[in-house]
Amino acid sequence: MARALFDPERGYYTRHIRTVGRSGDFATSSTLSPSLGSAIAAWFKSESRIQPHIRHIIEIGAGDGSLMASFRQSLGWWKRRPYTFHIVETSTVLREQQQKRLGGKIHWHNDLESALDQAQGHAFIYHNELLDAFPATLVQWNAAEQRWLEVWVPEALHQHHLDAAFFSVLRHATFKDGQRCEFHPSIRNWLRRWTPHWKSGAMLTIDYGDDFPRLYHRRPHGTLRAYLLHQRLTGTDIYANPGRQDITADINFTDYAAWLRELGLEQASRQTLAEFLRPHAPPAQLLDPDGAGSAFKCLVHRRLACAS
Ligand SMILES: C[S@@+](CC[C@H](N)C(=O)[O-])C[C@H]1O[C@@H](n2cnc3c(N)ncnc32)[C@H](O)[C@@H]1O
Repeated sequence: MARALFDPERGYYTRHIRTVGRSGDFATSSTLSPSLGSAIAAWFKSESRIQPHIRHIIEIGAGDGSLMASFRQSLGWWKRRPYTFHIVETSTVLREQQQKRLGGKIHWHNDLESALDQAQGHAFIYHNELLDAFPATLVQWNAAEQRWLEVWVPEALHQHHLDAAFFSVLRHATFKDGQRCEFHPSIRNWLRRWTPHWKSGAMLTIDYGDDFPRLYHRRPHGTLRAYLLHQRLTGTDIYANPGRQDITADINFTDYAAWLRELGLEQASRQTLAEFLRPHAPPAQLLDPDGAGSAFKCLVHRRLACAS
């Protein structure tokens, strides 16, 4: 998955993605309406009242730039305050689209560490549908042997060598034979890299997923899937066209919260996306509270200057 999405020469995000939205392979709520940008602007204003010293705002993984555009638009007169806007983006294709849409008022970075260093560690951070693009490890439960086996490509089962202490899936042994689950060592490693550079601020995480094991209720094949021209692909079709289609998996928020806690960051709040958007979206743009509106979660983590 890491190579299919991020190989410098042949990866989907690095080379072949056309855009995010109706004319790409998948759309996100940022590309469908400006409501998410308005809701994030309201979140940012309320966080600024708690930590008014912060002057830097960082979006990670900004797609076609729609979200940063609607976020800035919704700031109104707050834009006159001396804020610096940053985007962390690893895809050169998407970065060019962002630069065209947003002009020269943004600072672009290849990684969050350098954005935080430029902000002297004090920043508000947000990201929408970033984590679901991180490479996942796929495992399958073998009930006879009472153990998880890792699924490799081409499909074959192998013993895994991952530490169960960090991944709730690997500590769970009550699934039916053949249940597939994913987990994300890549996200844990990423968090461990940049959190030492963050001194104060708040982070808003928006992504699809759920707590474990509820995430896998009625999903015996797990959540790994691919998208090509808005078609959802499952099974071995996920491995077709490597580098030419998006691959994604839901986020296990039990693990995500635990990894951040391990790094000294407690979760300050959690809502569904429907709840987060309700005060900011016109009724026609509200998400189905039983569908996408509840599949997506909005989590806030805060680091207060005096805490560390
Ligand atoms: C699924 S798209 C979501 C785009 C956008 N946030 C939206 O709401 O439309 C994932 C985005 O994250 C970027 N990305 C993936 N991994 C990244 C990483 N490690 N650091 C920064 N950006 C990353 C991709 O290039 C892309 O812009």
